[in-house]
Amino acid sequence: MPAELVCFAPNCRARFPVTEVIYNCPRCGGLLEADYPQLKLDPEELKAVWRTRRTCNLPLDQSGVWRYREIIPFLENLDSVVTLREGNTPLLAALAAAEYGGLDRLVFKHQGFNPTGSFKDNGMTCGVAQARRLGMRRVACVSTGNTSASMAAYAGAAGLEALIFIPHGNISYGKLAQALEYGARTFQVEANFDQILALVRALAERLGIYLLNSINPFRIEGQKTIMAEMLDQRDWSVPDWIVLPGGNLGNTSAFGKALREMKQWGFIDKLPRLAVIQAEGAAPFFDLFQTASRDRLDAVAHPETLATAIKIGDPVSWPKALKEVGESQGAVEKVSEQEIADAKAVIGKSGIGCEPASAATLAGIRKLTAAGIMRRDADVVAVLTGNLLKDPDYIYRYHTGQLEAPGRGLIQPTFGNQPVIVPNDPEKIAALL
Ligand code: F0G
Repeated sequence: MPAELVCFAPNCRARFPVTEVIYNCPRCGGLLEADYPQLKLDPEELKAVWRTRRTCNLPLDQSGVWRYREIIPFLENLDSVVTLREGNTPLLAALAAAEYGGLDRLVFKHQGFNPTGSFKDNGMTCGVAQARRLGMRRVACVSTGNTSASMAAYAGAAGLEALIFIPHGNISYGKLAQALEYGARTFQVEANFDQILALVRALAERLGIYLLNSINPFRIEGQKTIMAEMLDQRDWSVPDWIVLPGGNLGNTSAFGKALREMKQWGFIDKLPRLAVIQAEGAAPFFDLFQTASRDRLDAVAHPETLATAIKIGDPVSWPKALKEVGESQGAVEKVSEQEIADAKAVIGKSGIGCEPASAATLAGIRKLTAAGIMRRDADVVAVLTGNLLKDPDYIYRYHTGQLEAPGRGLIQPTFGNQPVIVPNDPEKIAALL
């Protein structure tokens, strides 16, 4: 079944072979996406096949990405695939978080259960498979930390050289540590994410390095399976809302594409609404959504947020995200540093936990229910994008009242949980208890 790359720009739609090393349309500069023009699938048969694969010991069937390989058929064969058993992430119900968000019930799809602790693994297994298929030896990315951790791991497993570019001093140590441990060559650049992305795109072309940022359409294909797995876990019952944090907007694009395609192929008969939540200091997509024409994104020159994963001022995938949120009749919201920090603590107290960017979901839900946009009895799935342990420094500072947002002052430890220092004395400890 031939796959093609197609330009996303509605007035261009130029087509290119899937084996061409391009990240933007060579004709108009638009974004690219994978397309399968003649693909016909039998939804009922595939739903049964996918369920059976869950009990199979073949590595590709154990992968929560490649189990759904029929909806991402961009490879001629699967020889180039390296899997770390990505995906397979749970749906977790959380009553306390639901109450905090103003909902009767709330379920988290926790992508932090992935091998490197974030949703990036779903896409990276596909990006690395494409790199190997193309015969590339070196892969590179710019990252706020999770993409680089994931790329380092998959490149390590595949025997490729990994080159990582990160904003100096602006990613959490947990994520930087992963890149180092997985053996990537790591460059800390004194610039912000958006500036480094421009730099690395130029370098990649000049040096023949394969770029694995989310502009890479094959990563988007992998991230589609997050929605397939979620629906499979719900026995194909479609929720009312999917809520996710927005940074570079690759995930929003992937979820929208997945849901649209699965409706087109007959797996589902309606689309859930997508709600994208941004941090107040890095919310260009929120601003765009407020405008009447919605035709031009004004980049935020100096994005600021302690949720460093989404500290992005000029998201490359905004045209795709705009279409997907629009078609799903979705919403875009922005939340403050205090709201993110408190929502994160509530998710933590529910025994679930996540990294700061992920908690923007619950903070956003709270605002959307208060505004009457999301109904209290809505069926909502919020996607937690990263693991709690990605950023322990943030957690310690919040609970001890030392978390400070640049230019916005100290964050109140509303749900703070201070450790208590005690002498080695059973009587004194007993008295405290
Ligand atoms: N949540 C987490 C934990 C992330 O790491 C990211 C993005 C996002 C949300 C936003 O996703 O960019 O698809 O809208 N992290 C990228 C990185 C930018 O380099 O790791 P998005």
